[in-house]
Amino acid sequence: MEQQIKDLRLRAGEEIRSSATLKELDDVRVKFLGKKGELTGLLRGMSQLTPEERPIVGKLVNEAREEIEQLITQKNSELKAAELQAKLASERIDVTLPGRRVHDGHLHPLTLTLNRVKKIFVSMGYSVEEGPEVETDYYNFEALNLPKDHPARDMQDSFYITEEILLRTQTSPVQARTMERHKDNEPIRMIAPGRVYRRDDYDASHSPMFTQVEGLVIDKGISFADLKGTLEDFSKKIFGERTKIRLRPSFFPFTEPSAEVDVSCVMCHGAGCKVCQGTGWLEILGAGMVHPDVLKMSGYDPDEVSGFAFGMGIERIAMLTYGLDDMRLLYDNDVRFLKQF
Ligand code: PHE
Repeated sequence: MEQQIKDLRLRAGEEIRSSATLKELDDVRVKFLGKKGELTGLLRGMSQLTPEERPIVGKLVNEAREEIEQLITQKNSELKAAELQAKLASERIDVTLPGRRVHDGHLHPLTLTLNRVKKIFVSMGYSVEEGPEVETDYYNFEALNLPKDHPARDMQDSFYITEEILLRTQTSPVQARTMERHKDNEPIRMIAPGRVYRRDDYDASHSPMFTQVEGLVIDKGISFADLKGTLEDFSKKIFGERTKIRLRPSFFPFTEPSAEVDVSCVMCHGAGCKVCQGTGWLEILGAGMVHPDVLKMSGYDPDEVSGFAFGMGIERIAMLTYGLDDMRLLYDNDVRFLKQF
């Protein structure tokens, strides 16, 4: 029996040593120490021994068990360490690899332009007002001196929702809405940026939706000279100090007199080029003195106060300041284009 135990210790030791995985090691443990294992088998056989032999053999069996257990524990931690090493090696990250860049988004060129325009007028003391894009016929036309069937309505082909409701064709309705919120000929100095809609083609210079900024100033003694000075100051700030402006007589039902305002060409500074089609000038907005009837309709007294108004297209200003030759670039959302701003 002593020989058997010695044998078993040798074999167990060898099998433990040659275990390559934790699973194999556990199989070895079951084989020798398990309930039906070899060592347990030896213990069972002890009933055949004499009472004198029993404690001696018992001691040997216990020593064998302790030794095997110890070897297993030791091998177990070796295998675990090796497994961890293998895992670490397979999951290793090369920290010297160049990082993957996260691309930051940024504001759209139209928003950037709108923000510049806003900033210029806010620095002149203007407030920024808003009005609805779905507008009533009254504010979009009637309050602006364009009664039903007025021929000037044809200048702006419209998207009607019902007879009385439409997508606003201009930001001018915010003039009337702002005046109505004030009492007693209270002075106004505001701009109103926003989207407007017209039944237009979609080509390099037209879109059925575009962006305008309206301006309205009302106070005692406001004159055409104030309008001209304001627009000249604005044009120099947005297009550069060398910019000149030119006013051409025009017609809008809600201003009298009215003007189309041109700036000297931002590309050739007046010499004549492709952008200004050889004229040296670029049209950027419509403007005029607020019509007395428009003041009256919204509760202002034209005998007490006067005012001027203007309206400009932001796409046009963005195209001129960024040198774009197609308005659709601003709506296509092509990242290769947008990335440049
Ligand atoms: N609302 C006019 C347009 O869209 C522009 C304008 C605004 C003209 C204010 C005069 C005064 O064409």
